[in-house]
Amino acid sequence: KIINVILSGGVGSRLWPLSRKNKPKQYLNIFGEKSLFQLTAMRNITLCDGLTVIGNMDNFELSSEALKEIDIQKYQQIIEASPRNTAAAIAFAAFSADKNDILLITPSDHLIEDEDEYERAVNEAIELAKQDSIVTFGLVPTKPETGFGYIQVEGNNVLGFREKPNLETAQEFIVKGNFLWNSGMFCFKAGIFLEELKKHQPEVYTKSEIAFNARTDDRLPVEESMNIPSISVDYAVMEKTDRLKVVKSNFKWSDMGSFESLYTYLKDNGHPTDEHGNMVIGTNIHTEFLGIKKSILVVTHDAILILKKEKSQKVKDIYENLETEY
Ligand code: GDD
Ligand code: MG
Repeated sequence: KIINVILSGGVGSRLWPLSRKNKPKQYLNIFGEKSLFQLTAMRNITLCDGLTVIGNMDNFELSSEALKEIDIQKYQQIIEASPRNTAAAIAFAAFSADKNDILLITPSDHLIEDEDEYERAVNEAIELAKQDSIVTFGLVPTKPETGFGYIQVEGNNVLGFREKPNLETAQEFIVKGNFLWNSGMFCFKAGIFLEELKKHQPEVYTKSEIAFNARTDDRLPVEESMNIPSISVDYAVMEKTDRLKVVKSNFKWSDMGSFESLYTYLKDNGHPTDEHGNMVIGTNIHTEFLGIKKSILVVTHDAILILKKEKSQKVKDIYENLETEY
């Protein structure tokens, strides 16, 4: 059995004020009629036999509504008491599956175009996962982005995995040439993942198992959850395991993680900018920028953000320092 696991626990704080705690970015329809969450579910439903959504209580209703709208009725939701990062989230999904089930882990906030190539890549990954590999999807990097993981590749083999290198290291990787970006999607047998987690992060494994076993109606308990170390699967397993393989993928992919990527996407799709590269998002009010370059104005009904495009990663800090919850 092949199960699509959608990770939908993030708040998308780098897209504040478009993205809010009570309506994170993956549920917004900024990219057309469907939200990123719905596009993710639709893309995978035909390739898989089951769907597990893992997110927090705030996202529970949003996920149910979103799936109903696209007519997906058969799925499981696991509700986290508190976000404990992706190693734990994936562990919960793995505990809920049979050990030989193949899990296709997908973030909920990526935009992917070219469905044929996507399908080809997923099928290749499934074949490798059947042979007990932990499979990543690698994309050709276009710039020394520090927010991604890098995979050093030789065919399907992985020579090394490095999560979020600093700029200097990222630049070296690009120059060397045999590095791909980690897409953030993974494919493996549930049992194999748990074995590797147990081996490299025994505490995450044990505490996730305790929390999972103490769940009621697919809701995880608060106290047991808080004991789980918060670490991403990239650091916890991908950097350590020797079962890692990669499928080189050529589909068009964007992680809609920040205003910088949103800006690029919108610009490529005909959203206007002025002659200095300034962009307005969220309003039709006539706006002029004077003496300001490559900046973005984001307008919502109760909050406005003005930022220089290159400061996009810092929006998270604003969000975290907000005293009132906007
Ligand atoms: N359920 C749940 N619980 N989901 C979570 C949690 C959690 O505690 N934390 C994060 N997620 C979800 C996010 O909503 C997102 O869909 C996905 O897991 C990945 O988390 P991010 O926080 O967006 O990770 P990242 O972007 O910093 O890095 C990952 O993705 C990059 C590509 O976009 C890594 O895998 C990198 O190596 C990769 O390059
Ligand atoms: Mg991300």
